[in-house]
Amino acid sequence: MYHAKISGLGYYVPENVVTNDDLSKIMDTNDAWIQERTGIKERRHVVRGDGNTTTSMGVKAAEIAIERSGVAREDIDFIIFATLSPDYYFPGPGVLVQRDLGLRTVGALDVRNQCSGFVYAVSIADQYIKTGMYKNILVIGSELHSYGLDMTDRGRGVSVIFGDGAGAAVISREEDLTQGILSTHLHSEGQHAEELVLIAPGMGKRWVSDILKDNDPNDESYFPYMNGQFVFKNAVVRFSEVINEGLQANNLSVSDISMLIPHQANLRISQFIQAKFKLSDEQVYNNIQKFGNTTAASIPIALTEAWEQGKIKKGDLVVLAAFGSGFTWGSVIIRW
Ligand code: UT7
Repeated sequence: MYHAKISGLGYYVPENVVTNDDLSKIMDTNDAWIQERTGIKERRHVVRGDGNTTTSMGVKAAEIAIERSGVAREDIDFIIFATLSPDYYFPGPGVLVQRDLGLRTVGALDVRNQCSGFVYAVSIADQYIKTGMYKNILVIGSELHSYGLDMTDRGRGVSVIFGDGAGAAVISREEDLTQGILSTHLHSEGQHAEELVLIAPGMGKRWVSDILKDNDPNDESYFPYMNGQFVFKNAVVRFSEVINEGLQANNLSVSDISMLIPHQANLRISQFIQAKFKLSDEQVYNNIQKFGNTTAASIPIALTEAWEQGKIKKGDLVVLAAFGSGFTWGSVIIRW
């Protein structure tokens, strides 16, 4: 039995900054509304033709994470890629990373858990490393949202929130069982699948041929739908539950938390959790203000930034927590 630790972190965001004022020029929105409801000031959007894809951004983040981990590429044993915005309907981006990084013919797994994708991916990596099956696993969360958003007045409740970017971690064997990932906790409630959903193209209700056949300018089925207030209410409850679950499983309490990295869904959600747990500003890392909600990429981007800024030190108790479409939610408790 081994533990798993994060041995390297990296992130990549496209250069193109889209401010709230930029959005207000193309849809009926404004900086005050967006900041008040979400805390977001700006986000990054890929520019068509700049070469960025979900996979290529993930690869750039992964190259940094691998370099920092000190793990040689030939020693990466497995790839786990979390995204809701893959380059292709199939195959998933994991195999494209194997190709683009020139990794041996290692296995590549794609995770479809949206905002909780990185937490699920870390949990899978943790299990493989604990059992001794693999020593070094590359975990990527990457999203290219901007191509798929409804950038008209109709889509404003969703489109202003999401941004593009990627984060990556190398997760490696740790022989000291007091260090590394202490536990992971995963949940789902499919009853609410349609409250935050992208229906088409899918084999369940609407495939591409249906969209083409109907040729309906009012078709919203291929844009993300979110029941914002319902999602918000569930998020604050589930974030709290799953953080408490992780602490209790390790006989820890809120006062033991050195750094909480919440999925960057909405600054108001993070602030609610911070107030509920009576954590200081130094104990919670947020960067949604400049990157928006990058779904599966948000935790690895925020974790990388917090680590780069020296806010995470050896021995710290780091808690990752996420909630999103599915509904799915989860937490990771790490002794750094
Ligand atoms: O990461 C995955 C998990 N996602 C989340 O956790 C997101 C959770 N939900 C939220 O963050 C919030 O619900 C939103 C930020 C999405 C929306 O905030 P809200 O306070 O729930 O606003 P609302 O949807 O209830 O809309 C309030 C008003 C409406 O106008 P009326 O009906 O009151 O006249 C909307 O039409 O704000 C209007 N509105 C906007 N106004 C300006 C909606 N979007 C916009 C916009 N700009 N972009």
